[in-house]
Amino acid sequence: MTISIPRGTQDILPGEVELWQLIEQKARELCEKYQYQEIRTPIFEHTELFSRGVGDTTDIVQKEMYTFEDRGGRSLTLRPEGTASTVRAFVEKKLFGSANQPVKLYYMGPMFRYERPQSGRFRQFVQFGIEALGSNDPAIDAEVISLAMNLYKEMGLKKLKLVINSLGDKESRIAHREALVQHFKPRIHEFCSDCQNRLEKNPLRILDCKQDREHELMSTAPSILDYLNDDSKAYFEKVQKYLTQLDIPFEVDANLVRGLDYYNHTAFEIMSDAEGFGAITTLAGGGRYNGLVEEIGGPETPGIGFALSIERFIAALKAEGVNIEMNQGIDCYLVTLGEEAKDYSVGLLQQLRLAGISAERDYLNRKIKAQFKAADRLKAKFVAILGDEELKNNKINLKNMETGDQVELDLDSFVSTFLEMQQ
Ligand code: HAM
Repeated sequence: MTISIPRGTQDILPGEVELWQLIEQKARELCEKYQYQEIRTPIFEHTELFSRGVGDTTDIVQKEMYTFEDRGGRSLTLRPEGTASTVRAFVEKKLFGSANQPVKLYYMGPMFRYERPQSGRFRQFVQFGIEALGSNDPAIDAEVISLAMNLYKEMGLKKLKLVINSLGDKESRIAHREALVQHFKPRIHEFCSDCQNRLEKNPLRILDCKQDREHELMSTAPSILDYLNDDSKAYFEKVQKYLTQLDIPFEVDANLVRGLDYYNHTAFEIMSDAEGFGAITTLAGGGRYNGLVEEIGGPETPGIGFALSIERFIAALKAEGVNIEMNQGIDCYLVTLGEEAKDYSVGLLQQLRLAGISAERDYLNRKIKAQFKAADRLKAKFVAILGDEELKNNKINLKNMETGDQVELDLDSFVSTFLEMQQ
């Protein structure tokens, strides 16, 4: 019996992986320009980190975590997201004491959520995310959003929609929370059991419920924007001002609450507007999380960040029909004729590669015609032809596959001549 891949996971094969690598490379380059540095944290963490960090009334913690007991009896969880781990490392490694403030970090790697797999939703997916810790300046909120938008744009996406909201500061949220409880309480029995539990613990989560989405009380629920105090309002206005200054169009949506508990002030999502993208249109999400560092045991430190998944990024590129020419072809394919030439090519191939030339040869004992076919499949720019006769005479033929031109070169200086011809 064959063993199949687990549900909700993917193999990324040659031919597809190049696009992944390109996105990853672009993300790294952009982080360099924006001065975010990479952090690598473990794939699993103590379960408590996520129940405290992400919030134990969230769907992620209640239903979606891959939690297991290790042989030492500890409860561990495969990370469902990267913010809690980044903040844990920030606290544990005392990055708050670093001379460079704010601390600007990025990460890229697999995350795990036990969700119902569907197009754009996986159980293992790769997130690229950034976190800026230590600044309360609304300009950094705009910077975080602009990095995400610019990454998408650099890859050629155009049909993007940025939606922002403010969840306010603590005072604003307490007032809003009270209003939500008053709103839902009289009819809470009409909601699912999760929502009933959430009413007292965290009524904001009700707005995020997938099951009761269509309930009439959802659309009439009190809006957070009506409960923002002056400070929160001023903060949100500044963020909007900076986004406008950066030429980033946005929509304000008071219903955007995000599915994780740590947010306050700015919350945002970037959606794809491309036709036929599918039901799940959110490409990236993020926001401010002042208070999370203290929750994880560190000193009072503000923070903001976002994460996107490469899976949805690629889906958006496909939906928009962005054409990215990936396979540029190899520099040189060695075609050999005869036993001695074949032996010699082992060393010649190595010389080419060490000189920085991408090169390949035949390993299947193919006839010359089939070797040329193999060179075509690899989109070789040049084919070097070496027979036993040429070898004896210290010669090699080089064919330019684009023009069809062929020249005879000295074999002992072939690699340096080839390099010169490339300049
Ligand atoms: P999130 O909204 O849960 O936020 O996830 C961020 C992004 O990860 C989503 O917009 C989506 O692109 C991708 N994603 C989430 N779940 C899946 C899935 N099952 N399959 C494919 N892609 C998925 C966070 O994770 C926060 N940590 C973001 C953040 C960083 N907030 C502040 N800093």
